[in-house]
Amino acid sequence: MSKRKILVTSALPYANGPIHLGHMLEAVQTDIWVRFQKMRGENCIYVCADDAHGTAIMLRAEKEGISPQQLIDQVNADHKRTYDGFLINFDNFHSTHSEENRHYSESIYKSLRANNRIAMRSITQLFDPEKGLFLADRFVKGTCPKCKTDDQYGDNCEACGATYSPNDLINPRSTLSGATPVQRDSEHYFFKLPEFSDFLKSWTRSGTLQDQVANKLSEWLDAGLQEWDISRDAPYFGFEIPDAPGKYFYVWLDAPIGYMASFRNYCDRSGVNFDEYWNPDSQAELYHFIGKDIINFHALFWPAMLSDAGYRTPTAVFAHGFMTVNGKKMSKSRGTFINGHTYLNHLNPEYLRYFLASRLSDGVDDLDLNLEEFVNKVNSDLVGKVVNIASRCAGFISRGFDGQLSHIPAAPELLSECQAAATEIAQAYEQREYQRAIRLVMAQADKANQYIAEQAPWTIAKQNPHDPQVQAICTTGINLFRLLMTYLKPVLPAMSEKAEKFLNAGELDWASAETLLLAHRINTFEPLITRVEQSAVDAMLAEAASEVEQAEQPAAVASAADSHLLKDPIAGEIEFPDFARVDLRIVRIVEAAYVEGADKLLQLTLDLGPGPDGQPHLRNVFSGIRSAYKPEQLKGRLTVMVANLKPRKMKFGMSEGMVLAAGPGGSDIWLLSPDEGAQPGMRIM
Ligand code: MSP
Ligand code: ZN
Repeated sequence: MSKRKILVTSALPYANGPIHLGHMLEAVQTDIWVRFQKMRGENCIYVCADDAHGTAIMLRAEKEGISPQQLIDQVNADHKRTYDGFLINFDNFHSTHSEENRHYSESIYKSLRANNRIAMRSITQLFDPEKGLFLADRFVKGTCPKCKTDDQYGDNCEACGATYSPNDLINPRSTLSGATPVQRDSEHYFFKLPEFSDFLKSWTRSGTLQDQVANKLSEWLDAGLQEWDISRDAPYFGFEIPDAPGKYFYVWLDAPIGYMASFRNYCDRSGVNFDEYWNPDSQAELYHFIGKDIINFHALFWPAMLSDAGYRTPTAVFAHGFMTVNGKKMSKSRGTFINGHTYLNHLNPEYLRYFLASRLSDGVDDLDLNLEEFVNKVNSDLVGKVVNIASRCAGFISRGFDGQLSHIPAAPELLSECQAAATEIAQAYEQREYQRAIRLVMAQADKANQYIAEQAPWTIAKQNPHDPQVQAICTTGINLFRLLMTYLKPVLPAMSEKAEKFLNAGELDWASAETLLLAHRINTFEPLITRVEQSAVDAMLAEAASEVEQAEQPAAVASAADSHLLKDPIAGEIEFPDFARVDLRIVRIVEAAYVEGADKLLQLTLDLGPGPDGQPHLRNVFSGIRSAYKPEQLKGRLTVMVANLKPRKMKFGMSEGMVLAAGPGGSDIWLLSPDEGAQPGMRIM
């Protein structure tokens, strides 16, 4: 049979933040599928990239005082490290800010323009006169025109649910500068999507989408499509539109083209033929794994653009649901927004890969990372069932038989049954029904354990450790283990690699299940994976909660709302030297003031006592305590600060340290108040 040619992608993560566990759900889902295809001997290539363009990235670079290029380079390295940590086996990880992407974006745009698919017209938007930027809805806040609640975003009111245009807000202000926005006209470029209605009605119903997804899209298609605004005005971080100085491609125009660009970059390195995968008559398969929030970009705009520009369209788009943590949306304030590297600081990546596999289906339902179930599932399945089989049998083979497996196994029917399961398990993987695949594998693991328990080789070995019965039973056990590890290899690549070393018979691939390992010498058994400890999970949550404080709140407001999630509120122990590095000082607040444009912050001037020159040593600190204190309540008070915190450049200036406070938030935040007798500058020990 000739090999399938398959190109697979995961959605391109934005380069304005770290990879979090929600991203990992998608990467793990894709990676399992790709590893499965590769194990089957198919020609399967997996590419991804950072989505590096857009206003958010430009603003974040500005805030950090670096260029967008520096920011996206740093983030790219960080993203790669995190994906590596979770054993995501990309053939290429590129960036949308690349020459390949510029090339394909320009050439696709030019084809669309030549085909008369681009319209131009002037639109009116809010403009921040101070920043010199047009404002997307989320960058405008003001008073709701309907219920008059203050501090509402430009598109809808969180208090009464009204939806409106940012132009309707009362007292609108830019969240970037605090300035009052003005209305300004500018010329925009539009992709004439409605002209593709008929094409899309049939494309979305041609087996390319999950039923639920196709049904949802039908509603939009029936309601009628709108032209799609594909341009943004300078300043913007992206690609300038050809023949349109000062106009840039909207980030979502060049993002999916980034799939092609990453693949092109791969082709140039590997000699694979690009056209064979992208020509309209290509026999290769093309699959995009994405989250349910970005379906319209992949199932409407993208196939329309591709077909019009003379490329093939995706074979299928596979959408998945969202990850929740302990039943709730991942949330920074609840401390359940868990970054990939935070997880990796405490837990083995294969725990998560296995847990996700055991819950993933081919649908778009959300997937809950319930951390208690996570611990139980991993411990009972991987440690209690799979590894247990090998660890119970290996010792008898090495001690009694010098590592040699028998010529003939006991229980050949049991082995054939486990071998025969390969077909159904393969189908489940192919159809992205990993939950079913794992259930099938674990059913075989249960039978294997039952068999070993019944045969109790330890009882026979007690009489005679060299009894051939012991060898035959344990040879069967080890072969069952080998089959299970073959089936689990797409999910557990590192554990399988250790199993391969132990089995001493080369790499497992899908065809390995057709054979047995007999009359063969195995290596001594080393533990393949350890139990998940609840304390490690608690420590991860503690770190996730503390990261949010650092990132978002200039004051260390350790919120009680965060810590209720932690079984042990003192999780995440540090050593004394770690503590000793924190320079905590008594300080006097000599000045306190509101910060214009910042609704959470107060600006504090802190006196740390006399400096070497005898003059008061003053520090400027921004603190997120405005909801609890008026400036005049603070002037003259003593409190405690972290004096050696690296200064941070914020939108409003440098923050040179942090004051300590506690409470659930809102008006309930209390600054620490030292006893009488404390003097500014005293170090706390
Ligand atoms: N940059 C765009 C995608 C461009 S693709 C041409 C984007 N980036 S993202 O970083 O916001 O999301 C990347 C992928 O991660 C998306 O498929 C998104 O659905 C997925 N997820 C982001 N948060 C998620 C969860 N909490 N759970 C599961 N997937 C989630 O969108
Ligand atoms: Zn309202």
